Amino acid sequence: MSSPDIRIALHDVSHAYRQAARRVPVLAGVTERFSAGEFAVLLGRSGSGKTTLLHLLGALEVPERGEIEMLGSRVSSADEATRAAFRRQHVGMVFQSYNLVPTLCAWENVALPLTLLGTSLAEARPRAIEELDRLGLSGLEMRMPDQLSGGEQQRVAIARAIVHRPPILLADEPTGNLDLETALDVVARLVDVVRTHGITLLMATHSREVVGHADRVLRLQGGRLVPEVAP
Ligand SMILES: Nc1ncnc2c1ncn2[C@@H]1O[C@H](COP(=O)(O)OP(=O)(O)OP(=O)(O)O)[C@@H](O)[C@H]1O
Ligand SMILES: [Mg+2]
Repeated sequence: MSSPDIRIALHDVSHAYRQAARRVPVLAGVTERFSAGEFAVLLGRSGSGKTTLLHLLGALEVPERGEIEMLGSRVSSADEATRAAFRRQHVGMVFQSYNLVPTLCAWENVALPLTLLGTSLAEARPRAIEELDRLGLSGLEMRMPDQLSGGEQQRVAIARAIVHRPPILLADEPTGNLDLETALDVVARLVDVVRTHGITLLMATHSREVVGHADRVLRLQGGRLVPEVAP
């Protein structure tokens, strides 16, 4: 159906939430494709549906209407177990609030996707430590999340999202809680990693500074994705 270069294809995707008896439409016919190695930024006002779209792409939710094809698989029509397995193997996710497991130290957090995919802890440990090292966190491997700064926690979260080299990386305002300098450092590292490994990165952000790094800038407006025109 789609060429091997297309990692993500959305076909007329619509989605709404139900609140009490009310239907709240969020996405209204989104059709878009994202290629291998592409870095696309997702802009849009608060409430425009950026997180909703990323959750659909992360197969955390199923669209009300339309179809999502990822790596050639129709994930939107798969059952929950299949979607979870797909996500574990092929999708990395980074959130604004880091979402590290508080009871695991930095390297154990990073090792998590590997052990979930069946890698032994002994094998996962050096890979996790190497990933942390690459993100400038050597020496902090044994720290617990609450002993790390926000920028450090976000870098641990990035290491965790990419340690298993997923072809798709989804980032939801990953720099929202960081000061500008730290935010730019985190984005530069993220971009470096995705460029090195040809990962397709979709990042929702409010940060204008991030936009300059992207291959493509899209805006969610009125439930649709529109190309952002340069100011
Ligand atoms: N679980 C839910 N149940 C009901 N409504 C929801 C739910 N999640 C989101 N919404 C609504 O869907 C709309 C889109 O929300 P979403 O979180 O996708 O926006 P966003 O673009 O990520 O906003 P922000 O920039 O503030 O993070 C909002 O109107 C929100 O209130
Ligand atoms: Mg959001």
